[in-house]
Amino acid sequence: VGVQRGDDRPIGVFDSGVGGLTVLRAVRERLPHEHAVYLGDTARVPYGSKSAEVVTRYSLRNAGFLLEQGIKLLVVACNTATAFALPELQHTLKIPVVGVVEPGAAAAAQRTQNGRVGVIGTAGTVSSGAYQRALARLAPQAQVTAQACPLFVPLAEEGWLTGEVPRRVAETYLAPLIQARVDTLVLGCTHYPLLKEVIADVMGPGAQLVDSAEATAEVVAQRLAELGAQGAPESQGAARYFVTDSAERFAEVASRFLGAPIPGAQHVDISSLDPRERSYG
Ligand code: DGL
Repeated sequence: VGVQRGDDRPIGVFDSGVGGLTVLRAVRERLPHEHAVYLGDTARVPYGSKSAEVVTRYSLRNAGFLLEQGIKLLVVACNTATAFALPELQHTLKIPVVGVVEPGAAAAAQRTQNGRVGVIGTAGTVSSGAYQRALARLAPQAQVTAQACPLFVPLAEEGWLTGEVPRRVAETYLAPLIQARVDTLVLGCTHYPLLKEVIADVMGPGAQLVDSAEATAEVVAQRLAELGAQGAPESQGAARYFVTDSAERFAEVASRFLGAPIPGAQHVDISSLDPRERSYG
């Protein structure tokens, strides 16, 4: 095996909005030599309350835009988009597509001791049954309790992460999971890591929280290695950011998600793209 030149094409990451930046951060920490292009579909967020058909259409458009940026691998950072559109994306695109559901489910399957696993996510993610199916495959003995927590997304976007209101909301949503005595809880939504503190507090010390960002970054690293498509070891990965609504609003909420300002996000109009209709990839 000779020394390979690096593949300097970027990794593409999309989300319905800002939440996927937590996944991007994990990917960049795990793979510091890789370039990345991030697309937040802020004009159409939230995906969590929309139908499978609509979320799939939006996801294909996002993929189409990122393919035009010359990406070598696509990460679907949005749980709802992964839950509804991953098979269609994998079928349509000619590059590898990595979602967040399977890595999160695998991490939970590995960590549970009592076989009682909880999953929280958007209404779409929970109703799709994607986590339930993945866990049935990866941990056939596990008893899975899934709960939609729709109000967590606006709370996280508002930065309303502590105090009476998030606590009451968390207590209400998490009651069935406490009752089911889950020892492992998958944070099946990009926004929930921001509410980790209140979720952990309400769940109590008997439940560990699984955030799929790191597990997903690990899968990305594996896929690139299998393909021999890693960036050159001497290169310093850079990221570019695109959004479909106002770049200013994105910058404001995004810095809360990453804990650091996002330099130079650009607005793009992708409303006419669809890789099924054009020959991308
Ligand atoms: N990104 C979505 C997810 O992870 C949450 C926000 C939304 O509903 O669009 O499911």
